[in-house]
Amino acid sequence: MGFFFEVVLSKATFTSPGKTEKTTSWTASFDTGAAWASLAFQAHKLGWAAHGMGGFDHEAARRVIKASEEYRLEAVVAIGKRGERASLPERLQANEKPNARRPLTETVFEGELR
Ligand SMILES: Cc1cc2nc3c(=O)[nH]c(=O)nc-3n(C[C@H](O)[C@H](O)[C@H](O)COP(=O)(O)O)c2cc1C
Repeated sequence: MGFFFEVVLSKATFTSPGKTEKTTSWTASFDTGAAWASLAFQAHKLGWAAHGMGGFDHEAARRVIKASEEYRLEAVVAIGKRGERASLPERLQANEKPNARRPLTETVFEGELR
């Protein structure tokens, strides 16, 4: 069974074409989220599973990949081939079913932020 992890980073500054000074990128996290989604779709299309993780040791990951403070560590993604359910510990086997999704009406709404 093969799997690997990747750390997804965004760069919070950029230099516009023709300019020399750096400026803040307000969409860096948004753009990186779109890139991760594309990766997950492509992985799925190729028969791989990709799972995002926000709960990781950010400081340790930053140290390991030697990322400067200019980079924001957005997530870690585990990519691998789906294995047999029976190979999981029993308590994890119980999780291997579709989970309940929050109704869309709780996420998308008109007017002011609640
Ligand atoms: C950006 C991101 C971060 C996530 N972080 C975690 C995490 O730290 N721990 C975790 O158990 N699941 C995390 N998840 C959820 C899992 O990746 C996965 O979606 C979850 O196990 C449910 O799987 P399912 O979407 O196939 O139902 C995260 C998902 C995303 C998109």
